[in-house]
Amino acid sequence: MTERRPLIIRLAAPRGFCAGVDRAIQIVEEALQKWGAPVYVRHEIVHNAHVVSRLEAMGAVFVDELDECPEDRPVIFSAHGVPKSVPAEAKSRNMIFVDATCPLVSKVHVEAERHDREGREIILIGHAGHPEVIGTMGQLPPGRIHLIETVEDAEAFQPKDPANVAFVTQTTLSVDDTADIVATLQRRFPGISTPHKEDICYATTNRQEAVKVIGEGTGLVLVIGAESSSNSKRLVEVALRAGADRAELVASADDIDWDWFEGVTLLGLTAGASAPEDLVQDVIAACRARFDVSVQKIETARETVTFKLPRVLTA
Ligand code: F3S
Repeated sequence: MTERRPLIIRLAAPRGFCAGVDRAIQIVEEALQKWGAPVYVRHEIVHNAHVVSRLEAMGAVFVDELDECPEDRPVIFSAHGVPKSVPAEAKSRNMIFVDATCPLVSKVHVEAERHDREGREIILIGHAGHPEVIGTMGQLPPGRIHLIETVEDAEAFQPKDPANVAFVTQTTLSVDDTADIVATLQRRFPGISTPHKEDICYATTNRQEAVKVIGEGTGLVLVIGAESSSNSKRLVEVALRAGADRAELVASADDIDWDWFEGVTLLGLTAGASAPEDLVQDVIAACRARFDVSVQKIETARETVTFKLPRVLTA
């Protein structure tokens, strides 16, 4: 029998599910318990196909828009948040709805509304088309929030009154890229109102910090997550910037191209905030089937955040 090549896996901690994703999944499970199947869910509850198919098997029906849901079944809104028009429409149709928006996204919604009430022009730093951005922009009438994606956008933005602007951000951005955009805004508009506390959430920040450490000097970093998951894509970028020779986003162990491992003795492994831990363990098992694996857990932070479920499910 030929001896297997050694492979050290640096396993990032924290990784995977955040408190907002945990809560959103629990909301669907509890809703199915309370009202029975089917329960409708507007948009992927979290950006992960494995999570979505497991919930589908339990009786959840995923739809793109509210008009695809019948009035007589409950509907859940995804963790990314929804424009104000969506719950308003559900109310007007007398539907039972449960909002699974992550409380840290709701906090950004509240901030945007406060700035608007206080008469400031609002900039949202985020990625066009992402459901969270659509939800945040939809907290106010069209035209009241300006989306900025890059430093160039920040340089070009022309407010009506440069002394009266504020910014909020998407929760899952790259901490470092956002700092550059914020620095540009602060240079151009010295009095700009900034979030009381960082809008980029604790889970995004912690996962990026951990991947920086595991990425340094690593031949390959695998990030488990969906193509549609913003925070997972940022982890790939951060790993490369931290010095990994290569970093790849994979939905599961099946997506791994084993040619990537040529010459690799040190593998970094992490998972985005919507990727379940069993997918991580599957990747480790697939590596064990090919290499003589030793796992080093690299813990850069401990997370204790949890969020309560909505009252309608606990009452
Ligand atoms: Fe919420 Fe951050 Fe997770 S905003 S859903 S805790 S990635």
